[in-house]
Amino acid sequence: MKIVAFMNQKGGVGKTTSVANIGAILAAEYGYKVLLIDLDPQGHLSEHLGVYPEDRSIYDVLVNNLPAADAVRTAFGMDILPANLDLSAAEVELVGMMSRELRLKKTVGEWVKNYDYVLIDCQPSLGLLPICGLSFAEHVVVPMEAEYLALKGLSQLVNTIRLIGENLNPALTLSGVLFCMYGGNSTLAKSVKADVENFLPAQVFTGVVRRNVRLAEAPSYGKPIINYDATGGGAADYRQITAEFLHRLPLDGELPRPGKIFAAAGADSGKKKKRVKSASPEAATANKTPGSGGEKKIEKKTPAKSEPARDKPAKDAAARPASAEAVIITPVIIWRVPAAEPQVPASRAPRWIEEKVESLELKVEIGATSTQL
Ligand SMILES: Nc1ncnc2c1ncn2[C@@H]1O[C@H](COP(=O)(O)OP(=O)(O)OP(=O)(O)O)[C@@H](O)[C@H]1O
Ligand SMILES: [Mg+2]
Repeated sequence: MKIVAFMNQKGGVGKTTSVANIGAILAAEYGYKVLLIDLDPQGHLSEHLGVYPEDRSIYDVLVNNLPAADAVRTAFGMDILPANLDLSAAEVELVGMMSRELRLKKTVGEWVKNYDYVLIDCQPSLGLLPICGLSFAEHVVVPMEAEYLALKGLSQLVNTIRLIGENLNPALTLSGVLFCMYGGNSTLAKSVKADVENFLPAQVFTGVVRRNVRLAEAPSYGKPIINYDATGGGAADYRQITAEFLHRLPLDGELPRPGKIFAAAGADSGKKKKRVKSASPEAATANKTPGSGGEKKIEKKTPAKSEPARDKPAKDAAARPASAEAVIITPVIIWRVPAAEPQVPASRAPRWIEEKVESLELKVEIGATSTQL
């Protein structure tokens, strides 16, 4: 299990959007068991997924000792502990409680153990609720915008994470900085990203989430982007980010699972007929069941050649004619390796695969048709 808090004291940087969409992709396209915790009295995460709790919210869990199992709801294949405005009173009501910073951990710590990924959406402040979230999480991902003031906020946040690590939660690690609403062509965006990469060389996500109107529209329909505009640029960006997220935060002792790979039959430009987004090449996975020929298969999904360059702006999905149909293309590289090899830790996997691979096959599946190359 991995518990990940999405935190930035700056407002409107993409925390909620990232939790909703990464969570939805982890659940729907990778089959992970996902719990989202809405730890923001604005309740935006709950709304984003069409959950409007009038009662039995995370507030009742934290303040009234309601069992989490009684507050949990299900949306888009995920479980969610929702929030509403009641939660704004929690900061005051928890003041008199002993070890109030550990309240979330105490109330849901045991209960969450059956989930693969627990994603926490924090409110934009350095108050008690985000500190509760950071005292419970093992990892922090910081969504941010590529702008000058964000850099100042980031060093404050790094300091807060260090203090929480020293005083409340030694397991806490800053595991990612994710650029959201990224305007890739602006010099400022590039130079801010480069500065943050200098400051935190290992933490910055290689992928970015580009500014995309569909991502902004999806919450008003109460849907994650993969349920609202599955083949557009916003969904593609979050698929790529989710693949990278899994590579950074694989479950203990497991390689990341393969995700579905999507392509839209492009009627949009007439030039590019297909758009394909896939798990990153690193999202190689080991199939634990030995193959029939005494072999163990490792399937590695890779983007098809028709994948557009990542930096190219997404075509507005709305511009596509209504007749455009989605086609699923699944390029699969099958690596054949000796079955007797022990399970390999994720960190060793790429090198191990290089050393042990015996033969390669490339299979492309388009709908029901499968072609061996
Ligand atoms: N990549 C994007 N492109 C365009 N709009 C976006 C993108 N990501 C998020 N938005 C929109 O920007 C606004 C702020 O995003 P979001 O709510 O995810 O930020 P937040 O950090 O959770 O905000 P808060 O601090 O208030 O909780 C929302 O209206 C959201 O729909
Ligand atoms: Mg939010």
